[in-house]
Amino acid sequence: MGQRKRIGILTSGGDCPGLNCVIRAVISHATLTYNWEIVGIPNATQGLLERKAIALNLHGLDVHGIDPLLSMGGTYLGSTSKGNTSDHTSELLASYQALAIDALIAIGGDGSLAILRDLACQGKWNLVAIPKTIDNDVAITERAVGFDTAVNTITESLNRLTYTAASHDRVMIVEVMGRQSGHLALHAGIAGGADIILIPEIPYSIADICQKINALRDHWGRKFAIIVVAEGVKTEEGSSSIYTDSLGQVRLRGISQYISEQVAHTLTQEVETRVTVLGHVQRGGMPSALDRIVAAAFGKAAVDLIAQQQYDRMVAWQNFQVKSIPLEEVLLSSPLSVEPDSYLVQTARALGIYIGEGKNN
Ligand code: F6P
Repeated sequence: MGQRKRIGILTSGGDCPGLNCVIRAVISHATLTYNWEIVGIPNATQGLLERKAIALNLHGLDVHGIDPLLSMGGTYLGSTSKGNTSDHTSELLASYQALAIDALIAIGGDGSLAILRDLACQGKWNLVAIPKTIDNDVAITERAVGFDTAVNTITESLNRLTYTAASHDRVMIVEVMGRQSGHLALHAGIAGGADIILIPEIPYSIADICQKINALRDHWGRKFAIIVVAEGVKTEEGSSSIYTDSLGQVRLRGISQYISEQVAHTLTQEVETRVTVLGHVQRGGMPSALDRIVAAAFGKAAVDLIAQQQYDRMVAWQNFQVKSIPLEEVLLSSPLSVEPDSYLVQTARALGIYIGEGKNN
């Protein structure tokens, strides 16, 4: 019989609900089925650089039934999304060796998985990846951990905003995350009863938005409207709304203000607009049941891949099954974006939602 394996696990990039459920599933399966040692590396590459490893086996198993990892948002291990590690490559490779782990499970989005794969190739690490991101833009997998909870959070926010919009006959413009993909806006917009959904993948016009708002009033006697706009949507002239954060990184924010001003300007006295930027509210909170299930299935699959010595792969959700895909193939593929003629887009249009390109009044 071989030596007892020692497995590292880390969470990298922006946090999201469900990360702790993945950690819990990995601990449970690796301990109960394989009797492996599991160590958590705090704060992703930062913890690796500092050669930190937290023993995880007892955590969770001792308290099954009231396990806080199941319902806790964020990541118990902490994360970092500071990006570039190229200045520290040789230290990171040495740290990995020093931690004496047999394999590493990395939970991340496409950006952080690309960085970790690069290191893994150089250091010959045994890497297995699990996709997470509220944006749901990781290629090849239909679901990433965190997406469903974020959709639910946005949906609930739209429900709340609808009542106050109706009470004051206002047009509410709600900006949601997603980087260059419109999955969050599309899913939550349909679920939350939006009248207008703007996503980066489909061009729109201010004139059509205004026509839709007028049509709601003229045909239905409704003086309020809900517009969901994805942060990656551009102005009509094609500029992104961005800002630079304190670390000098460019971030998306503010397209909702532009839409608000354009609508108010075009419809003059007829409408009052208000802007809500949901921001990191979308990333917080308890994971939904579906995210917990996806997390559990991904955690189990990742552990089994290590048992089968199948490395440099990512687990993926496809048609209600968990598959494993070469990580290189995932990273070489374009991020998952909304297909402009997809069934969900057609559904939105069939329900009378304006979603860009052509009128739907
Ligand atoms: O990729 C996830 C995400 O939440 C994006 O939707 C958003 O643009 C970005 O991260 C925000 O990043 P940060 O937490 O660094 O501000």
